[in-house]
Amino acid sequence: MTSSVGHDQEQATRRFDLARYLEARQAQVEAALEQSVTVTYPETIYESMRYSLLAGGKRLRPILCLATCELLGGTLEMAMPTACALEMIHTMSLIHDDLPAMDNDDYRRGKLTNHKVYGEDIAILAGDGLLTYAFEFIATRTQQVPAERVLQVIAMVSRAVGAAGLVGGQVVDLESEGQSDVSLETLNFIHRHKTGALLEACVLSGAVLAGATDAERQRLSRYAQNIGLAFQIIDDVLDITATQEELGKTAGKDIQAQKATYPSFWGIEESKRQASQLVADAKAELAPFGEAAVPLMALADYITARTH
Ligand code: IPE
Ligand code: IPE
Ligand code: MG
Ligand code: MG
Ligand code: MG
Repeated sequence: MTSSVGHDQEQATRRFDLARYLEARQAQVEAALEQSVTVTYPETIYESMRYSLLAGGKRLRPILCLATCELLGGTLEMAMPTACALEMIHTMSLIHDDLPAMDNDDYRRGKLTNHKVYGEDIAILAGDGLLTYAFEFIATRTQQVPAERVLQVIAMVSRAVGAAGLVGGQVVDLESEGQSDVSLETLNFIHRHKTGALLEACVLSGAVLAGATDAERQRLSRYAQNIGLAFQIIDDVLDITATQEELGKTAGKDIQAQKATYPSFWGIEESKRQASQLVADAKAELAPFGEAAVPLMALADYITARTH
């Protein structure tokens, strides 16, 4: 019974047109983001926030939030403010990650990094502006969702981005630079926190907005943790195997900066194999949701299949 459900689901995932789905969702997210931040006095800060927020990007985080809300019977409208907020937070993390004090990168999303255009002072403030506006946006724009769910989302997302999540992961990432003896445990800590925590919050916030049961949340949380780790493993692999044109950011930076990465620990082929296993484990968690979970299944496959 379960295996035939899994088989039907796998077949439907193969028939699913992910490219079209992504294109449609990306267009909806772009339109909502375009309207989210308007330019007013002092113009510099709003222009700097918009420069990075509207610079393209895969929009994977908002799409995961929307897809999970829809999977559980919620609407796109219920999740769109949170989806936009998650992209604002992600953009903040990229602006700060690229600063000279951190990864010191000149290109992001095919354009000069925020600090290269606006200066380090404004780039730091643009990140601060996006991070704080994200929470204002969830709190003030979410409609047709009971207030206690919105409160839960705000608590969950803030924890995922703070010292217990993304911030903590970035700290250990920086502390591990140039260290030759970083353990697998530390490497997993870095990846699960700097990248996995926010991706998990994207999936779980969509679930909470739609009114998920505890059992559904636990299952979706395991799905998200697996794709989160796989996502950063593939980011590490692409840093070595892809070009700057494909990535929209400087390639080869991790080896140059002596970052603790999966390829530096396991090599490229074994890293890819582990990412594929994590994606398979993630998809297995979705079996009980049947064909409604096809978008999340296809998004999991996209994590290892992507070229940028
Ligand atoms: C890059 O994220 C930063 C990581 C967490 C690895 P993405 O690869 O999702 O970047 P965009 O949003 O598509 O630019
Ligand atoms: C980024 O990890 C994680 C966050 C931004 C929180 P990386 O430093 O590997 O991301 P890229 O490669 O610069 O996009
Ligand atoms: Mg970094
Ligand atoms: Mg970086
Ligand atoms: Mg990277």
